[in-house]
Amino acid sequence: MTLTQQDIDREIAAEHVAYEKRVADGAPVEHHPRRDYAPYRSSMLRHPKRTPVAIDLGKDPEAVELHSPAFGERDITEIDNDLTRQHTGEPIGERITVSGRLLDRDGRPVRGQLIEIWQANSAGRYAHQREQHDAPLDPNFTGVGRTLSDDEGRYHFTTIQPGPYPWRQHLNAWRPAHIHFSVFGTAFTQRLVTQMYFPSDPLFPYDPIIQSVTDDAARQRLIATYDHSLSVPEFSMGYHWDIVLDGPRATWMEEGR
Ligand SMILES: [Fe+2]
Repeated sequence: MTLTQQDIDREIAAEHVAYEKRVADGAPVEHHPRRDYAPYRSSMLRHPKRTPVAIDLGKDPEAVELHSPAFGERDITEIDNDLTRQHTGEPIGERITVSGRLLDRDGRPVRGQLIEIWQANSAGRYAHQREQHDAPLDPNFTGVGRTLSDDEGRYHFTTIQPGPYPWRQHLNAWRPAHIHFSVFGTAFTQRLVTQMYFPSDPLFPYDPIIQSVTDDAARQRLIATYDHSLSVPEFSMGYHWDIVLDGPRATWMEEGR
């Protein structure tokens, strides 16, 4: 039987009611989605089912690094955070600037951190060989960028407004427009991955991925705000989005918790 949007809507509503009841009964606020959030079907299949393997850092602090990638500040070039200048021509779509700060639980800046993004193009297509959406590719847009946070914890990207795209979990499933973010700590095992969304997206109620963050306030923290001071005259629209690594205002992360 075909899984419909109505089926998913019912499941999302039931999960939300169950969450509100848990909190009313005294359970703690959930800043992060449960790993087996049923309306997002693949979360049932992909979440870890065993206890993580503990590594004795006292015994061999570098063992954990043996299988991780290496990177350094010198590898980042001046145009890595400008996704509109990585090819010979200009990409199609609405130019945007996205900026914010990487902060710890007390609002202190987290400096010198590698922040990476990846996203679909303006037609909602990823430049990836496993992409299945048949929207047009843009030869002038790869959709990948990176930068280091500065002394105030601030990051800055120039890119193209990504389009929404369909996926095949259920009939007529669409993802709200979003940008994937990755933040490295000081080791590969500290990497955190999340998603940034755009204000007032009509797809929010229908998307089981953003709805898997069942707490309303936590979900709102994934949505950037339009910031006129970040808009560049005659060039781009500005969006502001802070990433908070820990504490009661933490940004939801996909892994590493
Ligand atoms: Fe995506």
